[in-house]
Amino acid sequence: MRILEVQGITVRFGGLVAVSGVDFHIDHGEVVGLIGPNGAGKTTLFNLISGAITPSSGIILFKGDNITRLKPNEICRRGIARTFQLVKLFSDMTVLENVMLSCLFRKPRVTKDEAAHESMELLDFVGLNGTESLPARELPIGGQKRLEVARALATKPELLLLDEVMAGLNPAEVAEAIESIKKIREKGISIMLVEHVMQAIMDVSDRIIVLHNGEKLAEGVPCDIASNETVINVYLGGTISC
Ligand SMILES: Nc1ncnc2c1ncn2[C@@H]1O[C@H](COP(=O)(O)OP(=O)(O)OP(=O)(O)O)[C@@H](O)[C@H]1O
Ligand SMILES: [Mg+2]
Repeated sequence: MRILEVQGITVRFGGLVAVSGVDFHIDHGEVVGLIGPNGAGKTTLFNLISGAITPSSGIILFKGDNITRLKPNEICRRGIARTFQLVKLFSDMTVLENVMLSCLFRKPRVTKDEAAHESMELLDFVGLNGTESLPARELPIGGQKRLEVARALATKPELLLLDEVMAGLNPAEVAEAIESIKKIREKGISIMLVEHVMQAIMDVSDRIIVLHNGEKLAEGVPCDIASNETVINVYLGGTISC
């Protein structure tokens, strides 16, 4: 069953068509990878789904409801959460407060104590236990990315959009991030992730969508994408294991 359906989504910035007539869907419980060269339109697609920008044309359905022109907070309340490629934390607030804010934003309302308790559990889940009293800005980049994931999870999403959460991580941290994505999926949350770390994309994705110049270039299971000549030419640059 489909959790997200995107039909003919297009957005223009002046003369540039950043996303052009893109169609795809995500099934409940699926992990879908979104890849493509720099400037392909991946983050713009996330901005469209999460309501940060409004499409020029096209439709986005979430659990069958049209969410195309809803505001970001309304889309979040319906069950779509995201992280940002360039982290957007409240840098002077503590790690704990950053997560608590997301809990307190939810409906039905929770008390401050409940929010604190739940936030501590989420920090533990993403491996940030022991950092809760630090100002968010003092976390290294890998920690800030984990905090963004905890904050997104605190909204209790059914669909999570992860934009390059592994960028800048070392191989050990990438391995941890892969495990973390698998654990999120085990909670029943559907995931769409943008990554340039191919080992991670190939490992966790059920299906991969390739964007190029704003258009969908290819779509398929990891091994089909890894051996797709066009995808190799425009993005992968060579064969990779799947
Ligand atoms: N708000 C905006 N105004 C004008 N142009 C924009 C805006 N947002 C994105 N673009 C342009 O749209 C295109 C797609 O950008 P986008 O950030 O979606 O690429 P991306 O696939 O996420 O790339 P990367 O892998 O580098 O993150 C780029 O040419 C970018 O400069
Ligand atoms: Mg991007």
